[in-house]
Amino acid sequence: MSRATFFEVEILDVTSREQLCFLDKVEPCSTIGEIKNLFHKSYPQWYPARQALKLDPKRKQLRDDEVLQNLPVGTSATMYFRDLGPQLGWTMVFLAEYIGPLLTYLLFYFRLPYVYSPSYAFTSSPHPVVTLACACHTCHYVKRLIETIFVHRFSHGTMPLRTIVRNCVYYWSFSAWLAYYINHPLYTPPSYGERQVNYALVIFVLCEIGNFSIHLNLNHLRGDGSRCRKFPCPTKNPFTWLFFFVSCPNYTYEVGAWVSFSIMTQCLPVALYSVLGFIQMTIWAKGKHRAYSRKFKDYPSIRMAIIPLIV
Ligand SMILES: NC(=O)c1ccc[n+]([C@@H]2O[C@H](COP(=O)([O-])OP(=O)(O)OC[C@H]3O[C@@H](n4cnc5c(N)ncnc54)[C@H](OP(=O)(O)O)[C@@H]3O)[C@@H](O)[C@H]2O)c1
Repeated sequence: MSRATFFEVEILDVTSREQLCFLDKVEPCSTIGEIKNLFHKSYPQWYPARQALKLDPKRKQLRDDEVLQNLPVGTSATMYFRDLGPQLGWTMVFLAEYIGPLLTYLLFYFRLPYVYSPSYAFTSSPHPVVTLACACHTCHYVKRLIETIFVHRFSHGTMPLRTIVRNCVYYWSFSAWLAYYINHPLYTPPSYGERQVNYALVIFVLCEIGNFSIHLNLNHLRGDGSRCRKFPCPTKNPFTWLFFFVSCPNYTYEVGAWVSFSIMTQCLPVALYSVLGFIQMTIWAKGKHRAYSRKFKDYPSIRMAIIPLIV
């Protein structure tokens, strides 16, 4: 085989521009994932999931499935390396993020000693809504754990450890705060009594089923094992018909579940958590909506990001 059939790849540090590695005789059909593996041999501390490789320091990192000969580089490529920091697999990430709130809430529900004053240790609330709220909260997080293990097909293998720590602090501390108030011995049940609780429960259950239906729908989009984002569409399941109006109905249902939980418990910290979740999910949904509109020329113009006809 002649030399011209091989590529040379120079890898520079993105900040110092110092040369970290020079790979010659790289097969033209090598993927970025394979180049990361070669780089890893020289730097064992930077395993592939920690590496970001870019052709331009200011542009997006290259995907692992991109092929060297399809990049605009000729036969000698210069790539810029950035260390993404320690990583954890997605399943571990979500287990850490979701098991925390699940267990934290139960500490307050069972009123473990030192949670409230000692005379309330292991007592239970006289209000049925407190037990119902605990059941809803537990089901919500059990559902998320089940989806993480069996339903979601993530495109990225890992998440940076510092992001996980930030997310865990957010989810764990918020659930402790909500649980503290809802299970407090001085908690007062909703103003409109059983009627308010029952209506909220119906909306909560519908939103949870809707959220699960959308996650199943997204799972089917990756049925062929691909990692790219496809055109999401409604199916025969009526819960997916929200796709006619929004790009991220899973977020719409998630917000609906938290709003109904706020109404059911009539608890201010829950309402605050719902508002923060709504803001965060709206930012993500708008980003995804823009990406769909850019990628698919025939993307329906009636679709909004998260709230039909509004946002
Ligand atoms: N309460 C809160 O504050 C809060 C905040 C965020 C999320 N959540 C909950 O967590 C759930 C998951 O959140 P998320 O941000 O990961 O949702 P997401 O971005 O919609 O992703 C859900 C799954 O579907 C895949 N997916 C999404 N769009 C796809 C497409 N067009 N084609 C193929 N696969 C696609 C994703 O893969 P990749 O993303 O790996 O490509 C991921 O595996 C949400 O639906 C919500 O219920 C709650």
